[in-house]
Amino acid sequence: MKIKYQSGFGNSFSTEAVRGALPLNQNSPQRPPRGLYPEVLSGTAFTAPRAENLSTWLYKLRPSAMQPQYKSIGNGLLRSGPFDEAKTPPHRLRWNPLPIPSRPTDFIDGLVTMAGSGDPAAHSGLGVHFFCANRSMTDRYFHNADAEMMLVPQLGGLSIFSELGKMEVQPGEIAVLPRGMKFKVGLPDGKARGYACENYGAHFRLPELGPLGSQGLAQKRDFLVPVAAFEDRNAKCEVVLKFLGNLWATEYRHSPLDVVAWHGNHAPYKYDLARFMVMNTVSFDHPDPSIFTVLTSPSGQAGVANCDFVIFPPRWQVADHTFRPPWFHRNVMSELMGLVHGEYESKAEGFLPGGMSIHNCLQGHGPDLPTFEKASTAELKPHQLKNSLAFMWESRYVFRPTKFALRAPQLQRNYDAVWDGFKKRFK
Ligand SMILES: [Fe+2]
Repeated sequence: MKIKYQSGFGNSFSTEAVRGALPLNQNSPQRPPRGLYPEVLSGTAFTAPRAENLSTWLYKLRPSAMQPQYKSIGNGLLRSGPFDEAKTPPHRLRWNPLPIPSRPTDFIDGLVTMAGSGDPAAHSGLGVHFFCANRSMTDRYFHNADAEMMLVPQLGGLSIFSELGKMEVQPGEIAVLPRGMKFKVGLPDGKARGYACENYGAHFRLPELGPLGSQGLAQKRDFLVPVAAFEDRNAKCEVVLKFLGNLWATEYRHSPLDVVAWHGNHAPYKYDLARFMVMNTVSFDHPDPSIFTVLTSPSGQAGVANCDFVIFPPRWQVADHTFRPPWFHRNVMSELMGLVHGEYESKAEGFLPGGMSIHNCLQGHGPDLPTFEKASTAELKPHQLKNSLAFMWESRYVFRPTKFALRAPQLQRNYDAVWDGFKKRFK
């Protein structure tokens, strides 16, 4: 069945899975329609500025307060701030993709933390994970009180059923789940692999467009939000909660996805990265990669992101008298990159789809030697970069790898060598 969506970013949405379930003119009537319980889910402080304020009214079969006590369970390979279990190396780091596990593994069990920064307790920083799964979540639900989650599937689609409805997300698309929203992940292709960013900080939003004006980059209309859908199931359901970095679990006797109607602007969404209108130079020189920002989570300092989500999608390159791939650079912001498919323009080989790289604060990097040689001598005709989709989570905070990441066989222990062999050319 084709899934329906509402379109827009941060709109005040209204949706009901059963006709007449959504109160028309009052948020918390004494007797809500159809015997539902009203409940607020807020994504910001009540007094956050209106433009940033996120809140949604849910109309539920039962209130969320009706939940048994949680019990602590193991964290598996999931880690959270302060990410101090290993000394953070200054090296440039790169990993090959992790394999899909052979034993039964759902989305929660398949989360493997590679790096992160900050602390969920302080509402700043982020955690970056791979997910590798081969089982759908059926009677199991995830409830992450630590972070908003951005999922970037790389292999296999995700069928996400959240409290606010259903989304199908394919590689090339992203999904964002608000902090604290319960959801389960089905695997329509039987297996899935991808990247997950736990954003502990301010929620992702569209960047300002400045002199670009009203058009360009990601457009509000291309963000898709679910319509109301619910499960009316009386069965044992396990809810796994991530709270201050630890996993807890409890057992409901009904599905927590019991929101029959909702209205508000605090909602999950998905976005097809092919809808991104790419900006670039049409004369010369190399603009900063901030021109590729899809979404940004600001920190308290103007223009300095807790996390920017940046993509390097298919596009034309036309700049004249210009080295077209990213030049050598040392940036104060830290960069973590992933590759959904294809080849990234700045590396000849070694950065694989499903792999990951980290270039931390002020550590020099850029084109490898073959890329440098090729791009320095290339005839600068208009050139279309095709069939490649790389992305970056860029942060003001240094990415601190986990012990698992530093010991993983997928770590390329000779990655630094890709920048060997540059000859002195001074005349
Ligand atoms: Fe970089």
